[in-house]
Amino acid sequence: MIITIVGGGSTFTPGIVKSIALRREELDVTEIRLFDQDKERQDKVAVVVDWILHEELKCGIKLTTTTDAETAYTDASFIFAQMRVGKYAMREQDEKISLRHGCVGQETCGCGGMAYGMRTIFPMMQVIDDADKYARPDHWILNYSNPASIVSEACRKLRPNARIINICDMPIAIIDVVAAAMEISDKKNIVYDYFGLNHFGWFTSIEYKGKDLMPALRKYIKEQEILLPAAYLKDKTALSANSTSNANRHSKGSWYYVWKGIYEIMENFPEMLPNTYLNYYLQQKEFVEHSDVNHTRANEVMESREKNLFDGIDRYLATGEIDENVFYAGSHGDWIADLAIALKNDTKARFLVITENRGAIPNMPYDAMVEVPAYIGKNGPEVITQGPIPLFQQGLMMQQLNSEKLLVEGCIEGSYEKVLQAFTLNKTVPSMNVAKAILDDMIEANKGYWPELK
Ligand code: NAD
Ligand code: G6P
Ligand code: MN
Repeated sequence: MIITIVGGGSTFTPGIVKSIALRREELDVTEIRLFDQDKERQDKVAVVVDWILHEELKCGIKLTTTTDAETAYTDASFIFAQMRVGKYAMREQDEKISLRHGCVGQETCGCGGMAYGMRTIFPMMQVIDDADKYARPDHWILNYSNPASIVSEACRKLRPNARIINICDMPIAIIDVVAAAMEISDKKNIVYDYFGLNHFGWFTSIEYKGKDLMPALRKYIKEQEILLPAAYLKDKTALSANSTSNANRHSKGSWYYVWKGIYEIMENFPEMLPNTYLNYYLQQKEFVEHSDVNHTRANEVMESREKNLFDGIDRYLATGEIDENVFYAGSHGDWIADLAIALKNDTKARFLVITENRGAIPNMPYDAMVEVPAYIGKNGPEVITQGPIPLFQQGLMMQQLNSEKLLVEGCIEGSYEKVLQAFTLNKTVPSMNVAKAILDDMIEANKGYWPELK
């Protein structure tokens, strides 16, 4: 059984490989292939991957690294995709161009997310077509490549029969934080309900061993004035952007504000637990105020996760010593590997996935790509029906959904007007003229990545 990782040079590759290797019996995996366009970067990452497979875990899984699509996909059963089209250099542009115009500058939300989406749609179709051509007919593509919401809408529209499931690690990262805050060690006993679009959703219930956790959680968030475990708040390295450990990465550096933002949102709307990403839409002005246009999250990541990994590899090559903290990926790797197990072994385990609505949320369009719980078996997700959602959430979701749909249509048709409508409709943008100014700067910065807009 072959698993191919697209974006083999990603900072998350070693952590994902470790999660796969720890599950090698359930997955029956014999070979892992790394595929990337950047040979030099991938070859470096492969050093630590080789160490994990053959030194640390001493397992017989074969490792192949390639920049050739046919070699990468031939006979693969699973394709785990995690490309960053344009890499951190373009993430930095996405964030900084938006901020320069006074708007939220974020990897996947607002104008930055839309710019990243315009770069990623066609490379993602290439992955689907190559997998279709070379991989096993019953292959599955599990996609983390962002912006997952826009990517999933493009997949639905352009390749409706593709064997792809788009996923996100944020809800599970939130559950990890909830577990730590509530001092729960066996987080597998936490069951939750959730609805939304990707990076745009709400937990409607969280239970631990059948007991409602929401009252205790609301009390905790109100008392702490933040949703972060008390232990992290006392420990500076758990919050420092420059910490050399990748553990608890979602609490580090500027991530702090979104956990604070959960408290702020719940002061007004206490019923549901919002995804951290809702801050960019509900507190857009405040986000811009505490952002530094000269130093954004892209800079933090380049100075920490990326630097630590590549310095760690150089150190290993020079001294033979390795520090696992530099590639730790925790739930991020476990989630995708567990999803593959559910598909392969038809377990019907419950996962949150991004999937076509088809009536699961009756007051959202049939064809909306929503993020909801589903049972996962060999034929893919069996979505759990949610029932109608309240007007506030539905209104926010419709605005965001239509912005994303217009973006995908505009990208496919090469329509400047539709892309401008997408930017104008987005809740992070205050006026049509600001939308136009950002779009024009984004077109300039994305030359060679975006289709031409007329
Ligand atoms: P990274 O830049 O370290 O790695 C991305 C790799 O993708 C690079 O090695 C790059 O060369 C490669 N790449 C770019 N375009 C490619 C193409 N067309 N074909 C093959 N490879 C290509 O980035 P990272 O921070 O490790 O993140 C990787 C991806 O995972 C990003 O898209 C990020 O947004 C995503 N991510 C998603 C989630 C989620 O919840 N969905 C969580 C974490 C990360
Ligand atoms: C979460 C989200 C991802 C996003 C990542 C960014 O995990 O679910 O979709 O890519 O955060 O994290 P970073 O550390 O790169 O800012
Ligand atoms: Mn995500």
